Amino acid sequence: MSYLGVIIFSYIIGSIPSGLIIGKCFWQTDLRLHGSHNIGATNAWRTLGKKAGLIIFGLDFCKGVLGVSMAYFMSPDPEPFLLVLGGIMAIVGHSCSLFLLFKGGKGVATGLGVIATLMPQAAICVFILWLLIVVITRYVSLASMVAAVSVPLQAYYWDKPWQYIIFGILAAAFVVYRHRANIDRLMAGTESKIKL
Ligand code: G3P
Repeated sequence: MSYLGVIIFSYIIGSIPSGLIIGKCFWQTDLRLHGSHNIGATNAWRTLGKKAGLIIFGLDFCKGVLGVSMAYFMSPDPEPFLLVLGGIMAIVGHSCSLFLLFKGGKGVATGLGVIATLMPQAAICVFILWLLIVVITRYVSLASMVAAVSVPLQAYYWDKPWQYIIFGILAAAFVVYRHRANIDRLMAGTESKIKL
């Protein structure tokens, strides 16, 4: 029963399209029609400005936190697999949203929220790595992919349960897969740089 509850509720939480809602309600803008067409914080920053980017980053991050936390609501002493399941379902919900015909974002901010809840030390290191690459290259997509690939290594380094390492591998593969268009643009030299 706990498993089913976590699968359903974490997926629904992840599915809430924060970027789309905030963009439409406060900026009268559908992010899907601008920039990279992504509903995430990067495209919000690019299209609507820093304030929108930060708000949407915060909301998407919270979806990851809540997704994992759902395991605590469903079970008093959740095992690592249940926690990881909550995180995975939040990321899947964000990227394949129930409310957007199974389309959505790339899972980076929500994924960071998941990692921050599962393994805070690793999340701090992942965020610092991401920020360094953004500041040096101004390519958020590149930073997101490198940071994602570092997650399983971080989980191993910080001696986390094997389920967290498997989660890291799956999440990294998923995030890189969701950045296919960005990879093509990076290779072609047409990926847009972020203005800080
Ligand atoms: O978190 C998404 C980011 O890595 C790339 O976003 O809008 O440039 O495709 P975007």
